Formats: sequence, structure tokens, C-alpha cells
Amino acid sequence: MTEQTRIPVPDADVLPTGTQPRGGSLIERAAGRATLAAAPPPVLPLGQPRRPVVAAAIARAEAPEVSPSVPQSEPAPATPTATAAPRRHTGPRMRIDRAHLREQCLIEPDGPVTGLLEEFRIIKRQLLLTVSEARGTEDASVGRRILICSAHPGEGKTFCAVNLALSIAAEKNNEVLLVDADIAKPSVLSTLGLPGGPGLMDALADPNIAVEDCIMATDIPGFYVLPAGNQTGSDTEYLASARTEDVLDRLDRAILSDWDAGRPGRNRIVIFDSPPALAASPASELAMHVGQAVMVVRADRTGEAALRDALNILSGCDDIRLLLNCTKFSPTGRAFGSYYGYKE
Ligand SMILES: Nc1ncnc2c1ncn2[C@@H]1O[C@H](COP(=O)(O)OP(=O)(O)O)[C@@H](O)[C@H]1O
Ligand SMILES: [Mg+2]
Repeated sequence: MTEQTRIPVPDADVLPTGTQPRGGSLIERAAGRATLAAAPPPVLPLGQPRRPVVAAAIARAEAPEVSPSVPQSEPAPATPTATAAPRRHTGPRMRIDRAHLREQCLIEPDGPVTGLLEEFRIIKRQLLLTVSEARGTEDASVGRRILICSAHPGEGKTFCAVNLALSIAAEKNNEVLLVDADIAKPSVLSTLGLPGGPGLMDALADPNIAVEDCIMATDIPGFYVLPAGNQTGSDTEYLASARTEDVLDRLDRAILSDWDAGRPGRNRIVIFDSPPALAASPASELAMHVGQAVMVVRADRTGEAALRDALNILSGCDDIRLLLNCTKFSPTGRAFGSYYGYKE
């Protein structure tokens, strides 16, 4: 039995008219009504050093229908910030232990070319294409924000968010600010081996805290991290407030490049490691502030009903992609990491 058959086949009455209950790719069956890119989604084997062979694929999902059960609040009007001068980042610069990255199966900057690296190169390319399409339009700022979400915990949001961020930071023309937005269970800092610090929620809750001062610069050129900060019990309300767009706008425009003097003029991509859509309400609020959302689908775990529900919750974002994570085979036979001299 292949990994694809592990997703429970839903009852026929759950499927929309005309949808085939069997056949097609995992994503097609898992997403049901989601219309994917014309070409079949690439299924890419990852070259993980000490883990089972896993794989990821990314494809665009059609904007989900709005579920009546999901409250659809309008995004709060943004506080006018157009005239506010971008503030210079003054936070600490942290060293990221490369051995720790290897242990966590993360992309190692300036490390060997691995299958993992190759996979995320392909995944980021599709996302960056959309970012560049938004450039020059009035959506340019929001277009540079990418939310990484999934239905449930443990499906690979943080794994994908961190790897995607490291992969984009390696680009000559881009820099990345990785925001830990899983307020209840933040894990970006521990995944990267970084110490805790004030972050997003502190800046949202207290107007006297400048979010720029919470950003951690790192010794990886072009790679910055914003911790989640302290949980408040009113996280969703803070995220739904007008201040959120103001804070995110500051993240878009903060002057960060002092530590990377050799790489001026880069485009900033802001990546949010989201809470799980079905376990915490902030995901739906965050979705209203991003240009793209990536829904991580764990091949051995995510069920179709959960995926549909999660897509509905993210309906504030009209560009949602599915990223198939942890498959154990490649139907197309792609095998990055085991060919052309790449080392596992
Ligand atoms: N493609 C993958 N290959 C190997 N390990 C993975 C992969 N995706 C997720 N994991 C591991 O699964 C666990 C849960 O992933 P995580 O990213 O923390 O999930 P989430 O953030 O959705 O709760 C972590 O230990 C992570 O390293
Ligand atoms: Mg996580």
C-alpha cells in the first residue's frame, strides 16, 4: 500500500458533484474541490539524513468556498502608516549553530547540496514567482507575506516554514523575516536553537513596544527571526485589531540590513509559521494579512474533511497552495539527493 491510500477516502456524499472519490493524485483527492495547477504537482523526494524518505509537492488550491460556520470578519482597517518612517532594527544578532540545523534536518546555509535543498528550491520558486507578480501593484507589500499553515499540529508547518525561510535567505536578491506566529506553541526558536525573547504578541499587546526591537538578526545573511512573544489569552482579539496591519507593515519596512552590509537592496519576504487552522483561531486572522498561504498536508495524517475545513478557515487569503509533506515515494520517479553526486 502506498502513502496515498492512507488518506481516508471520504463518504461519497461529502464529495462535491462530479468529484471522483478515487484516483488522481493525493492532493487532488485530499483537496476534493480544490483545482490544482494544470500540470500535475511535482512530487519530490527529500534527502533527509536520519529520517525516513519523505517528500513534498506544492500546488495551488482554488480559493475555498466560505463555510457558513466560519465567522468572516472584515480585516480591520489599517492604522495609517504611510507617512511613518521605517524604523531601524536594533535587536541582537544571534549565532545559529549549523550542527543543530543538521540535527533538525534543516537546510544548512553554505552546506552541501542535498535533496532537501533541491526540493525547497522548487517550492520557493513558485512562491517567489507570485511575489514578483505582485511587485509594483498595490498588493506588493501584502504579496510578500506568506503564511505556512496546516489543519492540525505536527503536520510540518514549522519544518516547512524554517526550511523555506532558509532557502529564500540563500537567494542573492531576497532576505527573509521568519515570524513565529504559533503563539500558543511557538517552536521556531527551539527548532533553530535560539533563545527566547519578546516578539509579535508583545508588540501587538503593548503599543510602547516597537516590533523592530524584537527582531533577531542572525549570522545567516538575510535571515531574521521574530519570536512569538508572550501569549495573552486575547491573542485572536489582538490579531483582529487595527494594530496588526500597522505592526506587519513595520515588519515589511524595518531597516534590517546593517548586519548584511554586503547585500543591499534586497526584497524582503515575511514568512509566518501559523498555528494549526483547526486548533487555534488566529490562523484565520493571519490569513487576511498575507498574499499567499501554504497549507501543509501530511501524507500519512491529514484527512480530507480536515483539509477542507482548514481551507475554509483560511478563506481570508485568496491564494492558497497545498504542500504535500512526508510522502514516502515519488510517482514520477524524481529522486533529488540520490543522483548527480548529491549527498544524502
Ligand atoms: N518532511 C519532513 N521530513 C522529516 N521530518 C519532518 C518533515 N516534516 C515534519 N517533520 C518532523 O515532524 C515533526 C512535526 O513537524 P512540525 O514542523 O513541528 O509540525 P507543526 O509545526 O505543524 O506542528 C517535527 O519533528 C519535524 O521535524
Ligand atoms: Mg510548529
